[in-house]
Amino acid sequence: MPSLSVFGAQWGDEGKGKIIDRLAADADVVVRYQGGANAGHTMVVDGEKTVLHLVPCGVLHRGTKNVVANGVAIDPVQLLEEVDALRERGVEVTGESLRISAGAHLIFEHHRRMDQLSEHWLGEGRIGTTGRGIGPAYADKASRVGLRVSDLLDPERCHSRLSAVLAEKNATIEGVHGADPVDLAAELERATALGDRLRPFVGDTGAELRADYRAGKRILFEGAQGIMLDIDHGTYPFVTSSNTGTAGIPAGAGFPPGHIDRAIGIAKAYCTRVGEGPFPSELRGETGDAIRAAGNEYGATTGRPRRCGWFDAVAVRYGLSLNGADGWVMTNLDVLSGFEELSVATSYVMDGEQTREYPAHLPALDGCEVRLETRPGWQEDISGLRCYEDLPASARSYVEWVEELIGTPIVMLSIGPEREQVISRGL
Ligand code: IMP
Repeated sequence: MPSLSVFGAQWGDEGKGKIIDRLAADADVVVRYQGGANAGHTMVVDGEKTVLHLVPCGVLHRGTKNVVANGVAIDPVQLLEEVDALRERGVEVTGESLRISAGAHLIFEHHRRMDQLSEHWLGEGRIGTTGRGIGPAYADKASRVGLRVSDLLDPERCHSRLSAVLAEKNATIEGVHGADPVDLAAELERATALGDRLRPFVGDTGAELRADYRAGKRILFEGAQGIMLDIDHGTYPFVTSSNTGTAGIPAGAGFPPGHIDRAIGIAKAYCTRVGEGPFPSELRGETGDAIRAAGNEYGATTGRPRRCGWFDAVAVRYGLSLNGADGWVMTNLDVLSGFEELSVATSYVMDGEQTREYPAHLPALDGCEVRLETRPGWQEDISGLRCYEDLPASARSYVEWVEELIGTPIVMLSIGPEREQVISRGL
């Protein structure tokens, strides 16, 4: 594994945290390259649960370097809170084990405020964001008015840029939204203190990563959210504001595209989505509720109940092919124990036409119906198994059926939240 991209192949919450934590045992470097504290990556080790939003999931492995690269929108308060919480639990976090890009953009109070205010104005058309300021921070980046980590280390520059930006933002917050302005003096004071605390971690992480690759280090890229939430290739406008797949790595980490050696997608054995937007295989009744209860499907970041549905082979095939995946991990297979029958969306019907291809033109999904095919389920608890052959015959047949529909090998099954609860099929 010289370098490996691990990305979400659905709408996020695929269980990437656990898989990345596990794969990090064989990695020298783990890198976050997009998104921000909208992500919630959960790991369970020896019964102890850790939820990380910004710190990469390699942090629980001693000796692993964790990089928050330039493409991440960093909420410095959240990041330092995570560092403090990890240290309190005895996890070593130093300027060597955690590296933060000087070029990463920052999330301030006005971004969070604008995120929530804009959602309010969108009314029925709201995106259902996590409210963490992600969209407004990436918008400022594109508008070239964002502040970056390096600005935080230079109080004079930080003061002049933040004052100018806040003057405009406050005019909008007060004038357009009729809300209370953000207190400039308090923000400036906080920014200086944050800069001092971040300083030991900050560097040119792109140059460091390129040197690590040349030195033969094993680099794991940790995707956040999922490909169906990608700003370009997802269900726009109901997406997040970054490139969530392997394509986000070169720009988001300063890492040459040709140096990404392998890509592995992560998808649940069923589907979930939080927030608004198309979800063709959604189950609105009892079965969806049963999946939510069995899988404890509530957001790790916002606690919102996730919408649940059957596995969508059209969407996952699209996500894996878009990323050139060499294989994929099917997670939460244990959650499907106990269902009499299991269905999979094998094609869509749009405007009377049946297709196995994800539509390029998204409004086509509005009246989309899914064609479901059904197979028998299994009743046994499979969470204690470690060997593929020990799975009930109908569980194996479900896995192999889905694998055939997707056309990309399933290299691992995850059958519970603990690090050890996996069945390897080659990974
Ligand atoms: P934002 O990223 O907070 O702007 O939210 C945009 C959309 O992406 C909303 O539908 C969120 O629910 C969704 N989203 C953002 N981050 C995650 C995640 O980590 N898991 C699942 N959904 C997410």
